[in-house]
Amino acid sequence: MLNAAPGQVSVSTTPPALLPVYASMPVRPVRGRGSWLLDEEGHEWLDAYGGHAVASTGHSHPDVVRAIAEQAEQLLFYSTAVPLPQREALAQKLAELCPDPLGRVFLCNSGAEANENALHLARRHTGRQTIVSVRGGWHGRTVATLACTDGQRYEEAARRAGMPLSRKVPFDDVAALDRAIDDAVAAVLVEPIQGFAGARDCSPDFLRAARRLCDERGAVLLFDEVQCGVGRCGAFSAAEAVGVTPDALTFAKGLAGGLPIGAVVASSGLTDSLVLGDLGSTFGGGPVPCAAALANIGVIERDGLIANAVVVGDQLARGARALGVRRVTGRGLLLGLHLDRPASEVQRALFEHRILTGTATDPRVLRLLPPLSFSPREADLLLAGLREVLA
Ligand SMILES: Cc1ncc(COP(=O)(O)O)c(C=O)c1O
Repeated sequence: MLNAAPGQVSVSTTPPALLPVYASMPVRPVRGRGSWLLDEEGHEWLDAYGGHAVASTGHSHPDVVRAIAEQAEQLLFYSTAVPLPQREALAQKLAELCPDPLGRVFLCNSGAEANENALHLARRHTGRQTIVSVRGGWHGRTVATLACTDGQRYEEAARRAGMPLSRKVPFDDVAALDRAIDDAVAAVLVEPIQGFAGARDCSPDFLRAARRLCDERGAVLLFDEVQCGVGRCGAFSAAEAVGVTPDALTFAKGLAGGLPIGAVVASSGLTDSLVLGDLGSTFGGGPVPCAAALANIGVIERDGLIANAVVVGDQLARGARALGVRRVTGRGLLLGLHLDRPASEVQRALFEHRILTGTATDPRVLRLLPPLSFSPREADLLLAGLREVLA
């Protein structure tokens, strides 16, 4: 634990060998524990960005680290060419944690890859091509997912690659969704709580309408829970939190607490006709990330982190409103603070207090996505930093 005292923050630069495709935060972390990072100069930083929603049980949780070390010592890797107990146990666990009838699991390595495979399943199952997605949705950077991601530059990249673009409907617009779903549509792909757009939660009405319209018109409903899933938004799956069950959902980021992993959890109806070789991934379901995910889920369950995310999320939302933040969106520990000034300015000012937060495609939204283990005291420290910055 540290005191997040204001201080001079040095700015990172990208070395020439590394493609400069990411905006860097001004910290070079060398160690992480819980919600805290230690930088090269020994300063501690409070991480309300959660390593981009990945550090779900906090940085380097000892149970997760131990599971990784033990598994690496036993068997670092074998591909999907052999059955592995860790892979089977993780699939079983995810099937138990997702609402019925979501009980068939495909493991891969990232959020985009999970979405790519979910789209592939939907197209294969329906024999149709068109995807409907939602304005503000962010689904990844593979060609098929870029075509569904909102934003001109992503759509242009997909178009250059020859991928047909999804039909994008305005956020929460049931009438537009109704018009968009016809008998060419394979799937509707939705983030139930949009992450990058600024923690925007779709209304239950919109999600229920999506379920009904997909059923009526023979399309598949897919939830992208890469950011909002794994206990972040009030239940293990966002599907359970919002009370609408898709035909498949995808997890990634927070699933293994820090190792690359992706998962598609689908219904039998969507997957029963699959035959050998229809899906695949050399590294998907490797023993080490599976052992990490099992340990990570074990911590989430044992320490009641889903309930903690709800309680601390509520504390942050109430605290932010008390500071004059006009609107707070999202659920649990995926929150969007709607500010009266550019969020990037507030983010930069918080860096001076050694506090990490996220921005969003909405330039006035500051995004909070800390570990699910974020404590009430850490929430108070974040609010104290915000109070000074917003004053
Ligand atoms: C909702 C959502 N879907 C998909 C992705 C892509 O995941 P990845 O970067 O692991 O490919 C992201 C990443 O930010 C995301 O937030």
